[in-house]
Amino acid sequence: MIFERVVRAGLFRLGGGDAEAAHEWTLRRLATLSTNRPALAALRTAYAVRAPRTVFGVDFPNPVGLAAGMDKDGVALPAWPALGFGFVEVGTVTAQPQPGNPRPRLFRLPDSGAVVNRMGFNNSGAAALAGRLAALGRPLGVPLGISLGKSKVTPLDGAVADYLASYRALREHGDYFAVNVSSPNTPGLRALQDRDHLSALLGALVGEKPILVKIAPDLTEPAIAELLAVCLEGGAAGVIATNTTVGRAGVAPADRAAAAETGGLSGRPLADRAREVVSFVHRETGGALPVIGVGGLLSPDDATRMFDAGASLVQLYTGFIYRGPALVRAIARAAARGGGPAPAAGGAAAPT
Ligand SMILES: Cc1cc2nc3c(=O)[nH]c(=O)nc-3n(C[C@H](O)[C@H](O)[C@H](O)COP(=O)(O)O)c2cc1C
Repeated sequence: MIFERVVRAGLFRLGGGDAEAAHEWTLRRLATLSTNRPALAALRTAYAVRAPRTVFGVDFPNPVGLAAGMDKDGVALPAWPALGFGFVEVGTVTAQPQPGNPRPRLFRLPDSGAVVNRMGFNNSGAAALAGRLAALGRPLGVPLGISLGKSKVTPLDGAVADYLASYRALREHGDYFAVNVSSPNTPGLRALQDRDHLSALLGALVGEKPILVKIAPDLTEPAIAELLAVCLEGGAAGVIATNTTVGRAGVAPADRAAAAETGGLSGRPLADRAREVVSFVHRETGGALPVIGVGGLLSPDDATRMFDAGASLVQLYTGFIYRGPALVRAIARAAARGGGPAPAAGGAAAPT
């Protein structure tokens, strides 16, 4: 509760209440913290929980990850495991550096436990991230995922080459790669979830490192089923479900103004849909494609339900904004007590 009463209250007032100002301030503090080994060690003692599992051939100290978009450029990497995360996904990064959409582009919906964003893949580019990862010079201690997206200037028919350029620049640094074809904030990007585009993308990337596909919650079940068939044919290692939604169901009346902003909605209103998609993927593939469940996890119970729906791992973004590192620890502790993952196909407790 200290986080909510003191830290969060202060952060939410920063920059006249501008959500991105609070985000930038936090990242700067965490980047500074990342060079302070005694502070990192103290945090690790307070927050790191062991609940180990192996998924798509990678060993995770616990199944609670930082979702893509929080530390796009990997500026505060050592801080995340110290705050309890069992893996970190950086990015989404694009082949070309790009500024993203004009500000303001990040909006809090506090009564809904939600956020709307239209960042538009602001990032300093794959080469800069590769340089930063090479300079880290020490193991992170947890697996690193790298989320890849399409540069805005690249047309859809050049998308494969664009993702491949980023992948080649970063290949040696990632334990897995996420193909982000589901952000609502890059025009046309979600067309890459279609059969032809996605199989071409997987054809170019699958081979050396595990490649996961991150999907939108707004796809219909037949469209998800087709995407899963492509993932299975194309050798994807898993699915990340889900990205933000363009829908606005479940938003509290007090948050209507922020909800009217263009962009993707994350947080509590997304929880049921994200879990439904995870459950559908698990059922449809008979557990053959591991799922990272993400969307609206604001409590350990939310996470337990996500594991029960079939997720092997979970990720947080909005829940971390509202609840801080105590949430990461609470979910990892629940997982250590046996809150997941769900058994693979044929297991006795397959979700319904
Ligand atoms: C401000 C913001 C930026 C995001 N940027 C990315 C991104 O670059 N790549 C990506 O795959 N997902 C991105 N996401 C989506 C999250 O990774 C996550 O899928 C989504 O927010 C649902 O989880 P949550 O309800 O815990 O936030 C972003 C989310 C937010 C709120």
